[in-house]
Amino acid sequence: MKKVRKAVFPAAGMGTRFLPATKANPKEMLPIVDKPLIQYAAEEAMEAGITDLIFIIGRTKRAIADHFDKAYELEVELEQRGKLKALEALRGMLPAGMNCIFIRQAEALGLGHAVLCAQPAVGDEPFAVILADDLIDAQPGAIKQMCEQFDYYQSSVVGVETVPPEDTGSYGIVSTDVMTERVSRVNRIVEKPKPAEAPSNLAVVGRYILTPRIFHHLKHIERGAGGELQLTDGIAALLKEQQVLAYAFEGQRFDCGSKLGYMQAQVDFALKHPEISSAFKAWLTERFCGSCKES
Ligand code: G1P
Repeated sequence: MKKVRKAVFPAAGMGTRFLPATKANPKEMLPIVDKPLIQYAAEEAMEAGITDLIFIIGRTKRAIADHFDKAYELEVELEQRGKLKALEALRGMLPAGMNCIFIRQAEALGLGHAVLCAQPAVGDEPFAVILADDLIDAQPGAIKQMCEQFDYYQSSVVGVETVPPEDTGSYGIVSTDVMTERVSRVNRIVEKPKPAEAPSNLAVVGRYILTPRIFHHLKHIERGAGGELQLTDGIAALLKEQQVLAYAFEGQRFDCGSKLGYMQAQVDFALKHPEISSAFKAWLTERFCGSCKES
């Protein structure tokens, strides 16, 4: 039986929706309260037992590599100043035994191309793909839930959720045959169809478990939606020869690639953050609910 031990984090996109914040920093480094999106993604992978974290980085490459590097000077300084809580947070970021691999995607040719760049590090194994700008608040995490499905079915799994029909143009959309309450078999997948052409409103969100056969197909796909090499098109080719499952994960997804979703995640995570939750809640209530109480 094969196990998922590796995860790929494509992080070489342009981040145009967050300029100028993403001019010198990748969007995956935008923080939600006190942790960048890429760290939430890495923690989700580690929770699922994944040990090899493969980052596909682009133009603004340094920040992500620096983030996962050991920061000796900072650690010494925190220790000297007695800031032990901060030191603990820093040291706990990457437990022993984890491997971080950084691969440069020189040109932003699309998600399919980014995943193909990971092939030398993934080899002939099943692997996860996590898009850090889809932040999923779930327990257990979405990738752990999907790894459990992979362990059982030994086939590729894409994470899905139902979206408003008018939003199909922002997602990979699947049509499926239902198998169990949360699992269905994908029979078609299309990248960003217009609502009138969409086979359903079941959207792929940024979580995938893929068999290594995907690389073969990614080498042969042509430019698709938006003129990019699309992972969706690779999966469409894969499902002609292997079963691909759709899994409706349990949890709340925030589209942190959009300003609205990003701010919703900030509020939600701040309301749960042990350090600031009660003060933040009190402030929100005072700021926005003063008039609700009176009326
Ligand atoms: C990518 C994928 C798309 C998927 C989406 C999930 O699109 O190409 O199939 O539904 O992520 O967030 P992007 O949002 O990068 O345009």
